[in-house]
Amino acid sequence: MKIGVLTSGGDAPGMNAVICAIVKKATEYEIDVYGFLKGYNGLISGNFKKLNMDSVAGIVNLGGTVLQTARCEEFLTDLGPRKAKQTYDMMALDGLIVIGGDGTFRGAVKLTELGIPCIGIPGTIDNDIASTGYTIGFDTAINTATKMIDFLMDSVKSHGRCMVVEVMGRESGKIALNTALATGADFVLLPGGNEEQEKQLINKIKYKKVQGKEHFLIIVAEGCQNKNTIAEKIAAETKISVRSSVLGYVQRGGAPSAKDRIIASKMGIRAVTILKNKGKNRMIGELSGKIVDLDLKEAMNNKNSNNADDKEVERFINSL
Ligand code: F6P
Repeated sequence: MKIGVLTSGGDAPGMNAVICAIVKKATEYEIDVYGFLKGYNGLISGNFKKLNMDSVAGIVNLGGTVLQTARCEEFLTDLGPRKAKQTYDMMALDGLIVIGGDGTFRGAVKLTELGIPCIGIPGTIDNDIASTGYTIGFDTAINTATKMIDFLMDSVKSHGRCMVVEVMGRESGKIALNTALATGADFVLLPGGNEEQEKQLINKIKYKKVQGKEHFLIIVAEGCQNKNTIAEKIAAETKISVRSSVLGYVQRGGAPSAKDRIIASKMGIRAVTILKNKGKNRMIGELSGKIVDLDLKEAMNNKNSNNADDKEVERFINSL
């Protein structure tokens, strides 16, 4: 058997651990593995390298992805997937494993419609994919964000300021919510918040100030509509010295945490085993601590709802 693997979308710590596990498990089954470079671009243009135990030695602890990644515009058209299919047929592959976020999975669904057996593995720091409780990279990202914010707070406390920190995560507030909890933030603003919440935030700072608190930490999710105006509003209404900081791409970097390496490895093993057993079109996920696999298209179509626990955590952080 011969299978392909690629990483696509934003890189996430732990992607290399998946690649490593895939190659190791495939080698055990005597399956050849071809790694396509720069996401779907590599599949379209036939840019690949054969992977073996030597090529994945010592990569389990590396951040980023050794296959490199990209957001492939051409895959949004009909032509991209058709060109990819040509490469796939020419190489006579028996399946493809794609590692990435929901954009990557939408690409994979197109390939399944052209008859390519695909397995999707969720790899994104955002933890925003439907039908899985976890995406590879999330744990490392929130650990990095927590560490960076701890550093920021040394300065904030010394000056008696309010720091507004924007964290990544697109429309998902998972990084914001969990980082806010881990750093003891005074308030978290998540996508979909309203003006009422802004007032609640200002009132909380005013109230705490009267009680003698001198420093404040506000975490803002990337997808918040008011993320660029909130610092000014706080300064104007509370008369506190406010600074803001965008953590940015540092959140995607660094060695993956042990949790990310472990889940990544288990997902990689499951993906190869499915292809070996002639399974196809599955998405690997993690639910209640267990690695699961679900129909790729159905899993994609499920709603990614905010669970009740998250709402409770948000209330806890933002209460007085
Ligand atoms: O999906 C991961 C992520 O880091 C998001 O949190 C962020 O909005 C986006 O990727 C940034 O994407 P790009 O690398 O294309 O700028």
